[in-house]
Amino acid sequence: MDTKAMFNISYGLFVLTANQDGKDNGCIVNTVTQVTSDPLQVTIAVNKLNYTHDMIAATGHFTASILSEKADFEIFKRFGFQSGRNTDKFAGFDAVQRTANGTLAVTQGTNSYISADVTQKIDVGTHTIFLAKVVDVESLSDIPSATYTYYQQHIKPKPQPKAPQGKTIWRCKICGYEYEGEELPADFICPLCKHPASDFEKVTA
Ligand SMILES: Cc1cc2nc3c(=O)[nH]c(=O)nc-3n(C[C@H](O)[C@H](O)[C@H](O)COP(=O)(O)O)c2cc1C
Repeated sequence: MDTKAMFNISYGLFVLTANQDGKDNGCIVNTVTQVTSDPLQVTIAVNKLNYTHDMIAATGHFTASILSEKADFEIFKRFGFQSGRNTDKFAGFDAVQRTANGTLAVTQGTNSYISADVTQKIDVGTHTIFLAKVVDVESLSDIPSATYTYYQQHIKPKPQPKAPQGKTIWRCKICGYEYEGEELPADFICPLCKHPASDFEKVTA
């Protein structure tokens, strides 16, 4: 099995937001899919370690703001490389609009948003798949959506090609986090973006 082929699935990128007890939070996901048009339904797959996961599981409401090619790396760092359990990701960030179900749409670096209410949850191990009915959807700009490939090639900063002299590092291909050591534990999970050891590449001096 050549699991590298899985990287050839094309994805969009989204800021997935929720609101619980008056607190707003959000994370980056690549797993928003329209499943039917009548009724208009979407699925999202969210890692159970994410705070946003717990908020959506508890409230049943979310908004997925579709990131465009004008999204800068800062937005990925803000929403994708830290957890709302320890920080207020919306502090000092006012490019937002509250939508019909009470969650926030991100209006900077995005071209549309989809707000939806959860109708079913499927436990798939590390992630929960939420099936949801769309309750609000708006276009914000005509700028093309950022695909995962576009993010890798144009938005994510280019890493240094080599490790420091005499060192071996393992670099997360998703967010760039670096683990120093000869071997990466098989059950290692990226502390920033929560992707598994299989998404790391070995970099030598
Ligand atoms: C490019 C990119 C794609 C990501 N895709 C997903 C995804 O599809 N599902 C997911 O659960 N987390 C995904 N993440 C990881 C979350 O955004 C990240 O763990 C975030 O810090 C969780 O924040 P929270 O704990 O505040 O919810 C992705 C991160 C990045 C940078």
